[in-house]
Amino acid sequence: MDPTAWDGLFREGRDLYTCNHGPPGDRVYGEKLRTIGTTEYRQWDPFRSKLAALVSQGGVPPDLWTGARSALYLGGAHGTTVSHLADLLPESPIYVIEKSPTSFAPLLALSKRRSNLYPILADAQLPERYRADVGLVDLLYQDVAQRNQAAIFVENSRAVLAPRGRGIFMLKVRSVTQTRPSVAIVREARAELERAGMEVRAEVGLSPFARDHVALLTRPH
Ligand SMILES: C[S@@+](CC[C@H](N)C(=O)[O-])C[C@H]1O[C@@H](n2cnc3c(N)ncnc32)[C@H](O)[C@@H]1O
Repeated sequence: MDPTAWDGLFREGRDLYTCNHGPPGDRVYGEKLRTIGTTEYRQWDPFRSKLAALVSQGGVPPDLWTGARSALYLGGAHGTTVSHLADLLPESPIYVIEKSPTSFAPLLALSKRRSNLYPILADAQLPERYRADVGLVDLLYQDVAQRNQAAIFVENSRAVLAPRGRGIFMLKVRSVTQTRPSVAIVREARAELERAGMEVRAEVGLSPFARDHVALLTRPH
């Protein structure tokens, strides 16, 4: 198992792994487990997780999550990606917003097996409902696939992102509109973030792992 430029992330050949910080033998989505010495590793599938797709693309800054003392994750779904982020930041509380009660149930079950996950059943369009619980975070991650996803990212950045906080925004282009060209949609999303005072330091297409998705990496000006 080889270390990578990203804290807590390992590689074996082309496969990515995180160290399992859940109970030994715990699988979240049927992922492969590997034990080397006393460490158990969980394979991280870039076709199942956009954050793994992002690091698989190459040329991505190595400080994506390094040093984040807390994080807010919008759109937790069943916890596939969030479980790996919890491995990568084992000492940091990760607040996870999910609005679907059906997805929230497995997320809640996952949080019982991960000491740093705090799921909240809420609508990410209404950060005022959870900002008091979350406080200020160093990392904002969003993957909600909604028409107004850029506005949701801006509102949450304003509500909870610490002054030097970083953002990872997974933009699902076709959730915005089916008709206009992708480049125009990405340009408009970037402009919306920049108008809100964020610097977009990288724009990374996630194809072939997640078609129709672009990651926008932000930090404040
Ligand atoms: C593409 S899935 C997320 C997948 C997940 N990030 C992963 O990689 O494991 C999008 C999720 O966002 C949730 N969602 C959509 N709109 C939301 C909103 N306004 N507030 C909170 N969650 C939302 C959906 O219910 C769905 O579970």
